Amino acid sequence: MTTRPRKPAPNTPGPGKLPLPELEDLKRRGEKIAMVTAYDAPSGRLADAAGVDIVLVGDSAAMVVLGYDSTVPATMDEMLMLTRAVTRGAHRPLVVADMPFGSFQISDEEALANAIRFVKDAGADGVKLEGGGSSISRVRALVGAGVPVMGHIGLTPQSATMLGGFKAQGRSAEKARALLADARELESAGCFALVLEAVPAPVAKRITSTLSIPTIGIGAGADCDGQVLVWHDLLGLYDGHAPRFVKQYANLAPEIIAALRRYVDDVRSGAFPETKHTYAMPDEELAVFSEGVEHAHRDG
Ligand code: KIV
Repeated sequence: MTTRPRKPAPNTPGPGKLPLPELEDLKRRGEKIAMVTAYDAPSGRLADAAGVDIVLVGDSAAMVVLGYDSTVPATMDEMLMLTRAVTRGAHRPLVVADMPFGSFQISDEEALANAIRFVKDAGADGVKLEGGGSSISRVRALVGAGVPVMGHIGLTPQSATMLGGFKAQGRSAEKARALLADARELESAGCFALVLEAVPAPVAKRITSTLSIPTIGIGAGADCDGQVLVWHDLLGLYDGHAPRFVKQYANLAPEIIAALRRYVDDVRSGAFPETKHTYAMPDEELAVFSEGVEHAHRDG
């Protein structure tokens, strides 16, 4: 008999869960960290079954699940609902909730109140927030209050407009130096890990070797301490533009469409449902039922 791990109380590591400080041990030992996004309980369960270390409930949900063309419209309520679903499904991986645009920019107090909702109400193990600069004081406030924070620099999709689009970052010496400075500050502010998105591989390598906390790359080369991909990109479920850093491990969309087509055909031809898909009732009950209906019909 298999037993499902009991859901732990919020902000406490559950049985089998990778303790957060061990991420740094993995880095020291050169063991790579596998992170993937997920947005619902079944995908959380599948990521858990596949041995994923960290599940990110990314605000990429706005694009790949909610149908927007950027991550900006994602709301706290939407992200909380998705995070609750993921934490119901994923028990062993660390679950990190992405703080949506507008949830942490206004003040340390508001950022902390929102971060606490992710941990306390939705069962997340930590939160991720984008940016260096003004985000650094937010990280300090959250970590100081006991909320584990993952940083995210490079291409930060919430500020894609200000960055001039979904473009690689840190491609000049000056910009690369600024990224390294942000990375150092985010580490000293208390981040437990740092996402590097769309950053030249040599820059990511330098940041990785400078920090003690693990870097998780997406479009940042093989020298990061871990990698992250978006669920729908990895599995071939997103029909929007896929960046060059995506590796597609399956192409599920055509398989899903083919299965749905077979279903539609079966419904239209009457091939589905078969007797094995239906419920029977005792003959005598059916007889009484039919007789009653007949009577009602005659009398009415
Ligand atoms: O929202 C997201 O999925 C992310 C990852 C791409 C790192 O931030």
